[in-house]
Amino acid sequence: MKDKLIIFDTTLRDGEQSPGASMTREEKLRIARQLERMRVDVIEAGFPAASNGDFESVKAVADAVRDSTVCGLARALERDIDRAGEALKGASSSRIHTFIATSPIHMEKKLRMSPDQVLEQAVKAVKWARKWTDNVEFSPEDAGRSDPDFLCRILEAVIDAGASTLNIPDTVGYNLPQQFGHLIATLRERIPNADKAVFSVHCHNDLGLAVANSLSAVLNGARQVECTINGLGERAGNASLEEVVMAVRTRQDVFGCDTQIDTTQIVPASRLVASITGFAVQPNKAIVGANAFAHESGIHQDGVLKHRETYEIMRAEDVGWSANKMVMGKHSGRNAFKTRLAELGIELPSEDALNGAFARFKELADKKHEIFDEDLQALVSDEAAALEQEQFRLVSLKVCSETGETPHAIVVVAVNGAEKQAEADGGGPVDAAFKAIDSIVRSGAELQLYSVNNITSGTDAQGEVTVRLSKGGRIVNGQGSDTDIVIASAKSYLHALNKLHSKLERAHPQV
Ligand code: KIV
Ligand code: ZN
Repeated sequence: MKDKLIIFDTTLRDGEQSPGASMTREEKLRIARQLERMRVDVIEAGFPAASNGDFESVKAVADAVRDSTVCGLARALERDIDRAGEALKGASSSRIHTFIATSPIHMEKKLRMSPDQVLEQAVKAVKWARKWTDNVEFSPEDAGRSDPDFLCRILEAVIDAGASTLNIPDTVGYNLPQQFGHLIATLRERIPNADKAVFSVHCHNDLGLAVANSLSAVLNGARQVECTINGLGERAGNASLEEVVMAVRTRQDVFGCDTQIDTTQIVPASRLVASITGFAVQPNKAIVGANAFAHESGIHQDGVLKHRETYEIMRAEDVGWSANKMVMGKHSGRNAFKTRLAELGIELPSEDALNGAFARFKELADKKHEIFDEDLQALVSDEAAALEQEQFRLVSLKVCSETGETPHAIVVVAVNGAEKQAEADGGGPVDAAFKAIDSIVRSGAELQLYSVNNITSGTDAQGEVTVRLSKGGRIVNGQGSDTDIVIASAKSYLHALNKLHSKLERAHPQV
């Protein structure tokens, strides 16, 4: 019997800490449902003390998810822990994850606390968390740069205080695989009560080593990996869930453990997260990149045709790549639409939302004969964006683009319900549309990123546009999709502007 490797997904918490990746409650719920379908063991749904919005999101996930444990992050402070405990009350299985920094640089410069004070606060926090749940995880932040002797001391004390998972974070992505594996082996050997807890790892990707470090830790006895879909996360991101899971699954000859992940749900999860956050997946990304299973060279193609295993170590269908399936068309009814959404795990919050999404579906089906699952995901994202408290809404857009002429856009935007019209010239049709919108909104925001991706193939495919804006230190992403990419662009620009104006304030866990 192999050990079980626990998969702890932190896309909704650390993943959301990527600049611009913030998600609404509904978006988090959609991702959480997909993670549950993928049979993730623990979903870290957020940091409830960060803001009321974070609290509500964690609560919504805890209330909705039944088959995975739902976890909330809390600094080693009673008020943070109480906030997490409150948010998790409705969960069928809950975990509180509390942390405090243990590296000399963090204790001295950030916390201004002595190691003894840190140890005392950690023990107090774990005991406090145990009042809410017997499933408590403790992380010594920046463990990768902490003194192993001090780690042994604090970890032994928090196990005695009631922590059942010890998570060892390489917070700044500084470690090398052999060194990190050795740290895990040392801790397991030297902590006298180590057998009373599961060792977990949480690696950041600053040197591109997050997955390698996590796997090295697993080879040295770690039995939980914290990871994110598409490797999303603070700075260069976290270990990517799909890479960790498929490495362990593919190399069962080496690993003494396996996960319970339904790997066929990996690609749908990757697409969902990319579409919600606007963080597109690079084509050559392992497992979920568009080229991950594409063989270009003649020699490879010939080999694969003769015997698949000559060049393929995994089967594309095992990770959820399937030929685009035409799922619906112009004549599909509301019931079929609702059923397909349910099969995709999409629950719309109300009948009105369902009617809105169905109207969008009919409009799309008029323009595009074949509607794929990816189209349905995109139109639900559009409907969800429209349901948010929108200050700005696109009413109409007309763009003239002609060889030898300057592109010109005329736009009507509803601002808090009152329609305003503006027009502008631009270097191209998108530029003209953005300038016309900006002359109404006057946001003063800086455009950091504009990208267009086709949702499915063919020239009648919907384009999905991501716009990233920054203003006064805040960064937001907006998305929009349409078969007309200029309209998709205008929608995504307004989506980002709405987020920028929502004035959401939240604390950062590491601060
Ligand atoms: O990177 C880190 O140290 C974290 C902790 C909160 C676990 O995200
Ligand atoms: Zn982290």
